[in-house]
Amino acid sequence: MATAPELLEPVSPAVIRAMGVLDVPEVFAIERESYPFPWSAGIFRDCLRVGYFCRVITVEERICGYGVMSLGAGEVHILNLCIAEAERSRGFGRSMLEHLLVHGAAMGMSEAFLEVRPSNCAALALYRSLGFEQVGLRRGYYQAVNGREDACVLKLTLRARRATDT
Ligand SMILES: CC(C)(COP(=O)(O)OP(=O)(O)OC[C@H]1O[C@@H](n2cnc3c(N)ncnc32)[C@H](O)[C@@H]1OP(=O)(O)O)[C@@H](O)C(=O)NCCC(=O)NCCS
Repeated sequence: MATAPELLEPVSPAVIRAMGVLDVPEVFAIERESYPFPWSAGIFRDCLRVGYFCRVITVEERICGYGVMSLGAGEVHILNLCIAEAERSRGFGRSMLEHLLVHGAAMGMSEAFLEVRPSNCAALALYRSLGFEQVGLRRGYYQAVNGREDACVLKLTLRARRATDT
């Protein structure tokens, strides 16, 4: 007997938009579930107040993650990149990072920097896949459950990048 074709739910596209102060509680909830030593809600509000480039990625208006970046003196610094635990491995982290880098390049910045824990394999794999390379190590930079943890300093030379570049 012939079976009816399976009806697939259309997948809602993710949207990246500016973070606003009203988003901070939702952003902070993701931050708190994601890091053992999270930023406070006040730090996010400060980032907005001083004009850092703050973006959220949403699906049907629900915030799935965010990115925070400073720009200046020809450099961008990726200060935070985080995707809600339940939304990981769907390409959102890569999309957000690409979005930040595209903006930095469009604003005439020539280098991107970030710090990452050596134990953060997922983030390191993402950064390396986009061409970031380690240029330094900050000893004892991060708080850790057992004392302090080093930070790898990663750098990427920016070029005119489009969101579709791989
Ligand atoms: C790092 C993080 C932002 C990645 O976001 P994500 O949406 O899950 O990542 P994506 O689905 O876009 O995957 C992009 C790449 O990241 C790497 N990656 C993601 N999850 C990984 C995992 N569990 N193990 C290894 N590599 C992983 C892969 O290189 C992947 O590319 P691929 O899909 O072609 O293999 C996310 O894990 C996160 O928010 N972690 C907690 C916060 C954090 O550590 N932020 C970084 C601080 S420096």
